[in-house]
Order: sequence, then C-alpha cells, then structure tokens
Amino acid sequence: MASFNTVAGCVLASALFAMVVGKVSNAVVPVHRLEKPALAVADEAPTETAAAAPAEELPPIDPLLASANVEHGKEIFMKQCFTCHTIDKGGPNKVGPNQWDIVGRKKASHEGFSYSSALQAKGGEWTYEDINHMIFKPQAFVRGTKMAFAGLPKAQDRADVIAYLRTMNDNPPPLPK
Ligand code: HEC
Repeated sequence: MASFNTVAGCVLASALFAMVVGKVSNAVVPVHRLEKPALAVADEAPTETAAAAPAEELPPIDPLLASANVEHGKEIFMKQCFTCHTIDKGGPNKVGPNQWDIVGRKKASHEGFSYSSALQAKGGEWTYEDINHMIFKPQAFVRGTKMAFAGLPKAQDRADVIAYLRTMNDNPPPLPK
C-alpha cells in the first residue's frame, strides 16, 4: 500500500511539475520577448556577426581589383543586385537607390531615396573598401541598414562587382595601385 502511494505521489508530483514548468515557460518566453526592446535585439545580432567575421578583418579588396573581371561583375550585379538597384545614369530608385557613379559618391546621398538613419549616420564617401564591406555583410558594416542582402561571400566576386560599379561613371575613378 505504502509503495502504491509513493508511486502515485511520484506520478502526481511529476505531473504537477510538468504543468508548472509548462506554465512557467509559457509565461516566461513571451514576456521575455516582449520585454526585450527591439533596439537591444538589433544591437545584439550584428555583434554576433561581427564576432564571426569582424568587419576590420576582411582582407583588403585592392589587390583583387586590378585583375577583376568587369563582365563577370556585371553578371553578378544583374543577378544579385538589380532586383533592388538600377545602375543606368538617371535610373530610378527601386527598393534601393540607383547605383550610377556609386564609387566616390557621398554615402546616403542619392536624390529621392529615403535612407535609413543608420546609413545616413555612417558618413564619408563610398570607397572601394567600404563597398567591399557593404556587399560582404551589410548589417555588420552599417548596423541597422535597410539593405536586406545576405552578402557575397567570395572576395573575387566582390572585386568583380566593384570593378563593374567603377565603370558605371562618367569619369571612372582610378584603380588602386
Ligand atoms: C533586397 C534588396 C537589395 C539587394 C539585393 C541589394 N541591395 Fe544594396 N541597398 C538596398 C537598400 C534598401 C539600400 C539603402 C540602405 C539604407 O538606407 O540603409 C542599399 C544601399 C546600397 C549601397 C549604398 C548606396 C548609397 O547611395 O549610399 C550600396 C553601395 C549598395 N546598396 C550596393 C549593392 C550591391 C553592389 C548589391 C549586390 C551585390 C546590392 N546592393 C544588393 C537594397 C538592396
């Protein structure tokens, strides 16, 4: 009899425990999510990305530019960037701003495009190196950017695209020495 009670007690206790845990985790998860301000989430994600591949540790793109393949860069652009960016002179803004003369252009300066405050705050001009970082991991380079693009993982692909961007300009800026 005693052992039956013990077993029954155990079963009851485990059932209760499971219920409580269930309730508690139900209660904890949503509250936890709600309490976490969107800003904190945004702050955390890029830190992880940055830890995996810190923006500063991306090898410089300059050495790859000299031998870059402009035609291949154009192909990549048409497949991966054109969905969001036109690149012809005077072309319209789409999801992203027109890319004509992007190399050397002041950041977040294309007329008629509503940039994120994150990109507006970045400052400076689009150098080869900054574009390299932007198309490697936009979120790691400009935390909070509107550019929802996974990135081009291969350095030579990025160099090819940048070499193509360089040509889409009235006066293509000099290639790095
Ligand atoms: C899913 C849409 C999308 C794709 C794909 C995309 N971009 Fe963007 N891009 C954007 C948006 C949106 C912005 C504006 C970002 C902001 O305001 O934070 C932007 C901004 C930029 C800028 C800065 C422009 C400026 O005027 O300051 C560059 C450079 C750029 N993109 C290059 C590229 C290249 C090159 C590719 C392809 C390898 C690419 N993007 C793919 C949406 C996209």
